[in-house]
Amino acid sequence: MPRYTDIHSHILYGVDDGSKDMECSLRMLKAAEKENIGRIILTPHQKPDRHCVSVEGTYKRIAVLQDTLRQNHIDIKLYPGSELLYHSELTERLEAQKVCTMAGSHYALTEFLPNEDMQYIRNGLYDLICAGYWPIIAHAERCHALVKDLDNIDELIQMGCYIQMNAGSLTGDWGFGLKHASRKIMKEGLVHFLGTDAHSDKGKRVPKMENCAKWLDKKLGSQAAAKLLYQNAEAIFADEEL
Ligand SMILES: [Fe+2]
Repeated sequence: MPRYTDIHSHILYGVDDGSKDMECSLRMLKAAEKENIGRIILTPHQKPDRHCVSVEGTYKRIAVLQDTLRQNHIDIKLYPGSELLYHSELTERLEAQKVCTMAGSHYALTEFLPNEDMQYIRNGLYDLICAGYWPIIAHAERCHALVKDLDNIDELIQMGCYIQMNAGSLTGDWGFGLKHASRKIMKEGLVHFLGTDAHSDKGKRVPKMENCAKWLDKKLGSQAAAKLLYQNAEAIFADEEL
C-alpha cells in the first residue's frame, strides 16, 4: 500500500501547543515515518484571541524542516496548512491571505469547539462556502451536535463540507465514547480525510496511523481504506473538489 497522508498535524515547531522545538519535530517526523506516513499537511492552530504564526512564518519553518528531513534521509513531504478555529472574521482573514488554506488549495481545515450548536456550525460553514472555500471540518467526531444526529453531518456534506476524523479517535486512544461515535460515523461513510492531530513526540499524541489503517482495512475493505488513507487527499494537492 502507498504511504499515508496526514492532513492534520501540529508538528511545526514553536507555533502552538504542538511541537516545542526543531528536535521535537524531528522525533515526531521519525515516528510518522515508522507509521507509514509519507505526506503531512502541517496545520498549526489559528485562533482569533491569540498571537498565531503568520503565513510567512509557516512557510519559513516548513522549508527548514523539509531541509532537516533531507539531511536525515527521512522521506516525508511537508505542506502548509492551518487549523482554523471558526470566528466571524475568519472568511475575511482567509481572503486577505492572513492564514493558510490546505496546501494552497481552496480547502480550509475548520475547527469548532465541542459544544458549539448546529445553527452556529451551519452558518459558519455556509459563510466559508459562499466565499468560495471548501471547508473540512476538523475532528468532526468531537462536535457533540454532529455526533448526536448523523443527519447533521450528512446535511453539512450536502452543503459542500468535508469531514476529517482523527485516527486516534477511531482506535480508542481517547476513550470508549469517542471510539464508538467515530466508528459509527465512519461506517456510515461520512468521512473524507484522516489526520493524526499529533501534538507531541511522546504519549498518546504522537503521530499514529497504522492501527487505524488496519481497522479500516478489516472493517471497510482495502478500497475504502485507500481512499481515506491517501487517495482522497490527492484532491487537496490537485485543488479539486472530491
Ligand atoms: Fe489539531
